[in-house]
Amino acid sequence: MTAPRHFIDLWKLDGATLRLILEDAKARKTARKGWPQGRVDADAPAKDRVLSMIFQKNSTRTRFSFDAAMRQLGGDAIISTASDMQLGRGETIEDTAKVLSRMVDAVMIRANVHADVERFAQVSTVPVINGLTDKSHPCQIMADLLTIEEHRGDVGGKTIAWVGDGNNVCSSFIHAAPLLGFKLKIACPAVYHADLHDLARAAGLNGDVTMSEDPKEAVRGADVVVADTWVSMGDTDHDERLKAFEPYQVDDALMDLAKPDGVFLHCLPAHRGEEVTDAVLDGPRSLVWDEAENRIHAQKSVLAWCFGAIG
Ligand code: CP
Ligand code: NVA
Repeated sequence: MTAPRHFIDLWKLDGATLRLILEDAKARKTARKGWPQGRVDADAPAKDRVLSMIFQKNSTRTRFSFDAAMRQLGGDAIISTASDMQLGRGETIEDTAKVLSRMVDAVMIRANVHADVERFAQVSTVPVINGLTDKSHPCQIMADLLTIEEHRGDVGGKTIAWVGDGNNVCSSFIHAAPLLGFKLKIACPAVYHADLHDLARAAGLNGDVTMSEDPKEAVRGADVVVADTWVSMGDTDHDERLKAFEPYQVDDALMDLAKPDGVFLHCLPAHRGEEVTDAVLDGPRSLVWDEAENRIHAQKSVLAWCFGAIG
């Protein structure tokens, strides 16, 4: 039996695979322009396939976009919160993986602990997709890259500024940077820095990824400015974070330092008035609603790749 195609972290894949997924997403999105959301793509690459989704944390976009994605691919989805499963009463991850492998064709997991997704994948005989962990959020970055390329062309050679917490979403940007050849400038408080292993790996791949504490320096001349919440799910130091991140709010003055056609991204949910102002989020430079929609399009192609329908 061939090994399942897991989608757990972008750094485990190569640039050609990411490019293949992005181009498939663009083609699928174009082909269904004007269609109702429930109509199935002409090639129905997930026909007869079922995706199971397990959530240990809240979700709006990931949950709805994967469900919609499976319907548009001609397949079906089963959604559960981990606390409703025996997983929530102590059944092991490995036993759960063995059982679900007999019942569904792929599993998407949103987990508290990244290593749990890795453990699941080690045993699973069907593809496992990371729907966000404490360490990374690869599906989000595929949607972000799709959004950037739709509006500004090839991300290769572009400069992306990450402003705020060096968190899970930031890590997936670091993973993608050397694979697709964009420059990533991270600005974060020293105490909330990006993952040093991720930075070292990117450097080893000749990635152009830098980190400083200065948001102005990061944003100056950038093509894309990205923010995320200052307090991620699972973070317990709320008050300390709000204080440390105060100088990192993305407002119009900061956006004015980016390129004249610079755009703003945010994975959402946004905390208006904290990491981003209403004026930026709702303003002409914001692409956040396209970005949210693109979760569906990007993930359809991730799923098609996992099912072996592309590549
Ligand atoms: N961006 C994102 O993953 O959103 P949800 O938490 O709503 O899934
Ligand atoms: N960094 C955020 C992203 C939410 C989609 C979190 O992990 O809560």
